[in-house]
Amino acid sequence: MNPVYRIILILIVLFLIFFAAVLFADNRRFVVRRYVVRDRRIAKPVRYVLLTDLHEKVYPPDNEKIVDAVREIGPDAVLLGGDLIVYKKAVKGGDFCENSLSLVRRLAAAAPVFYVNGNHEQHLMEDGGKDRLYERFADSLKACGVCLLHNSGRDISGTLLQGLELPMDYYERFHMRTLSADRIESMIGQNRPDVFTVLLTHTPDQFEAYADWGADLCLCGHIHGGVARLPLIGGIIGPQSGFFPRYSAGVYERPIPGADKRTCRMILSCGMGMHKMPLRFMNPGEISVIELVPQEA
Ligand SMILES: [Fe+2]
Repeated sequence: MNPVYRIILILIVLFLIFFAAVLFADNRRFVVRRYVVRDRRIAKPVRYVLLTDLHEKVYPPDNEKIVDAVREIGPDAVLLGGDLIVYKKAVKGGDFCENSLSLVRRLAAAAPVFYVNGNHEQHLMEDGGKDRLYERFADSLKACGVCLLHNSGRDISGTLLQGLELPMDYYERFHMRTLSADRIESMIGQNRPDVFTVLLTHTPDQFEAYADWGADLCLCGHIHGGVARLPLIGGIIGPQSGFFPRYSAGVYERPIPGADKRTCRMILSCGMGMHKMPLRFMNPGEISVIELVPQEA
């Protein structure tokens, strides 16, 4: 064989081996990413763990590694950012979310757990009560001791943890409805600029509206890190926007209109699982740790 062809062939084989090895590893591991947010309105430190998009995934043997990691982190609360389930699996029936519920039960024994719907649960909810599937799922979460934040909020050490759940038309592929600050206000009320407000909501795609409403920090998932991640490029595929989603992972910032020097930050988790495309490349699962820290005057 021509030596040049031989080198090309060797390079292709090496690349395929690398690709397969990374794919294999990233489908089976998760990392812990830490974020620190400082603000003068935060009176006492608060530590959150954010878990999103489990989609019933099990990290072998039984998700105990996730529970161990959360226990070690020692959060004040665990936030579940939606998509614990897979909608299509749920409507087929059976024990549709036993894997996720088993995990949630153990997490709730370690820390208070708060939850908002992702699009998969929202879809189930909007199905018009088919076999009371959503109600059964929600009742199971409550039985685990989870607090469901259906467009409601809780005071956490003087900060506000506010849940926001969007109807399915805000998740339409390629024809996504644009959210406005007024619409958010009609769902969860007016923003209180005197209170540091954490908005727990599934999709990052409405970040502009969250900032316009006045959220200080948004915690989101949904994009799964863009399935595959490349250096300098980021995520490759998003659920609504197709290739190269605008938001795929990490921290984003926008000014809050009309608020002097206040910034809306968004922490976008890569999530823990996957469903339609059961692969993650250079994109392991993510447990996000968010530290809210008082800022000195
Ligand atoms: Fe989602």
